[in-house]
Amino acid sequence: MSHADDHEGTRRDFLYYATAGAGAVTAGAAVWPLVNQMNPSADVKALSSIRVDVGDIEPGTQLTVKWLGKPVFIRRRTAEEIAEANDVDLATLIDNDARNANLPNGGDGADANRFLVPPESELEGEWLVMMGVCTHLGCVPLGDGAGEYHGWFCPCHGSHYDTSGRIRKGPAPENLPVPPAAFEDASTIKLG
Ligand code: FES
Repeated sequence: MSHADDHEGTRRDFLYYATAGAGAVTAGAAVWPLVNQMNPSADVKALSSIRVDVGDIEPGTQLTVKWLGKPVFIRRRTAEEIAEANDVDLATLIDNDARNANLPNGGDGADANRFLVPPESELEGEWLVMMGVCTHLGCVPLGDGAGEYHGWFCPCHGSHYDTSGRIRKGPAPENLPVPPAAFEDASTIKLG
């Protein structure tokens, strides 16, 4: 990749990220009237949570939102991406840990330990929600099938993540972490 390509990719990613972030701010603004009637501790708690409408995300695309000042990737995976995420010998993973804040007892790096399930889901494993921060030195990886494992690629030092967000090649030591998140209904994900 040339330096020019690298710059262009970073800029495009930033623009997309900034646009998605504006959407998240709008969602946060709607929370304010309610927050103002609540006590301070509830106020702080509400600000650490956002709700994201994922109803318009098509399979094979993703949204990046800003949460607690950091990007979060929300991807609706295709059946092919899910199959690729499952077709992995866990013994070959660099980091065989779920890195999923929603699993209180932890788990291994199996794809089944990484995705979110909405109510009445038709395709198990469609929704992947992860922090968009490379576990090497904190760059924002490029998505949409980037890298040798068709998931995400961090061009800063060449870390390749697979379709489950697990580190497969490069200097990053850990999988992209799954933050506290859950579906509130079929099209709404609550982060935090
Ligand atoms: S910050 Fe991602 S590879 Fe170094």
